[in-house]
Amino acid sequence: MQESVRVDETTRQKVLAALSRERTAGLNPDPDFDRRLDQYLPLLTELFGSLYDCRPDWQDQLAALVVQSARSWQERSPELKTLDAKHEADSGWFLDNTMLGGVCYVDRYAESLEGVRARIPYFKELGLTYLHLMPLFLAPEPHSDGGYAVSSYRKVNPKLGTMEQLRSLAAELKANGISLVVDFIFNHTSDEHEWARKAAAGDPEFSDYYWIFPDRTMPDAFEQNVREIFPENHPGSFIRMEDGRWVWATFHTYQWDLNYSNPDVFRAMAGEMLFLANQGVDILRMDAVAFIWKQLGTPCENLPEAHTLLQAFNAVCRLAAPSLLFKSEAIVHPDEVALYIDPAECQLSYNPLQMALIWESLATRDVSLLAQALERRHNIPEGTSWVNYVRSHDDIGWTFADEDAAELGINGFDHRRFLNSFYVNRFPGSFARGVPFQDNPKTGDCRISGTTASLCGMEVDPAEAVERILLAHSVAFSTGGIPLLYLGDEVGQVNDYAYASEPGHGADSRWVHRPHYPAEQYDRRKDPSTPEGAVFNGLKRMTEVRARTAELAGTRLVDFATNNQSVLAYQRPGWQTWVLALANFSDQAQTLPAETFSGYSSAAVDLLSEAGLQLAEGLTLLPRQYLWLRVTPV
Ligand code: GLC
Ligand code: GLC
Repeated sequence: MQESVRVDETTRQKVLAALSRERTAGLNPDPDFDRRLDQYLPLLTELFGSLYDCRPDWQDQLAALVVQSARSWQERSPELKTLDAKHEADSGWFLDNTMLGGVCYVDRYAESLEGVRARIPYFKELGLTYLHLMPLFLAPEPHSDGGYAVSSYRKVNPKLGTMEQLRSLAAELKANGISLVVDFIFNHTSDEHEWARKAAAGDPEFSDYYWIFPDRTMPDAFEQNVREIFPENHPGSFIRMEDGRWVWATFHTYQWDLNYSNPDVFRAMAGEMLFLANQGVDILRMDAVAFIWKQLGTPCENLPEAHTLLQAFNAVCRLAAPSLLFKSEAIVHPDEVALYIDPAECQLSYNPLQMALIWESLATRDVSLLAQALERRHNIPEGTSWVNYVRSHDDIGWTFADEDAAELGINGFDHRRFLNSFYVNRFPGSFARGVPFQDNPKTGDCRISGTTASLCGMEVDPAEAVERILLAHSVAFSTGGIPLLYLGDEVGQVNDYAYASEPGHGADSRWVHRPHYPAEQYDRRKDPSTPEGAVFNGLKRMTEVRARTAELAGTRLVDFATNNQSVLAYQRPGWQTWVLALANFSDQAQTLPAETFSGYSSAAVDLLSEAGLQLAEGLTLLPRQYLWLRVTPV
């Protein structure tokens, strides 16, 4: 944030005058809103001013934003206001050890919103408390990037249902203890969004909603420093419009980046955000946060203003939808990932480093990088949480820090090449059956697609694959944060190569790991002699144990050295007892001598199997075995 404090009396008076004009015109006075306005107006002024005070009308824009927020609050349902009050009193509710997330595509997993509703009994069986429905808004067909190209934030894709159905689904989920998570795709809209259509038609007001230039001069200048995200789709960051102008498109050609240097765009998107909040959405997954601010001469990723923008959106929520949380999707260098995590910015964040290093450890059978990451990068501010996952709907990118790797004598570039060849089965002896994503011959960069089961070797050796799947999840379930399952993974679903002939999907290998609902596999989930049953039971066990283990709440972790390159360990401190998690990534049994455990009393219990152990005898872990030991520090 910049130096000057803008909470000057004139700004405040302007805002209050605008609000009182609105009230004279019919908006209800609301002491609750006024209390929060008192508390948050200085902050919002500071943030908004630091982005926009170069514009002569910035105070009017701010006043309009506050009025818009007051209106949205007035429209918020009494049920949601009750939830706001409940979460205001218990702001750390999402740190609970009963939290478990699931994510799915509405159409692929359940056909429609009604289909999702019909699966609520299953979600409860699994223990979900958080359901992320992949983008479900109106989008161009068939090119929609799985819904990430939004044509209207206020219309549900008619294939899936209606906004009315989304609202009632949100309420029913809540009644069943499940929070609804949807994406806020605010870096870009589809080229079919009304704003984009107007821009394409030459309307100057809406041309200013995007980064549009008459010729290549500015695009060439920007592209000096900007990396390509989807190089297989188009080179550079700009695409040519029909009238010859150039528009910024970081991702696909039909996803146009919004221009947040224009305060109209901020206000318009704040309106869309509050609209979604009022439908009963509990958590917004803030898509592509790294890219939302552009500045000539910079890489246009992770700029300080991107944080200011998120904080400003967060402050708007505090006024008009106080229980709404943000989850950051920043799949970038770990130093940058951490900067988005703050109660005043994004309370939740994907943990892409842990995700990538779980795969790295499975390939190398060496946990050094993962252990180092847990030691130095896991702990985050109080009142925030990781969302820990083994894989998502996206590719796996090797986003570890080269500096960290170098300390362990690992060359980042070479190591990524090894990991890519390992996971696309170009490395002799690999168990993994992944496919490349966005192979970029210019830079040597490449990422990986594949379901968890296929990457763990389900097609090669199902018994070992089951053990790898559980080992990987044992980490995501116990390091601290909300574990998030890609639904289908809990029954060991493999790659779906049919994607190649689906309209609009052929050129995007991520569809290989977005298969349809595997009905038959779900039918086998109760039979532990099948791979489906073994994975399902193993994950259910972890969920149940986690839910009754107070040490596993929150995110705080204390590192633990095993002096064994294949055995990962970390501690989760509790009140009197701690949990020591151990995970053997080797294909051989590993023995840890008694000295390793000299900080604890000898008697320990493995919470997963309920077996008692004497640490004074040392400990042997079988290949791919994981233990959650309740220990007593001495
Ligand atoms: C996010 C989504 C990804 C999408 C991109 C563009 O990274 O996870 O699936 O392609 O944003 O919206
Ligand atoms: C988005 C994309 C992902 C890409 C990342 C780059 O998250 O979905 O594929 O790796 O951006 O930052």
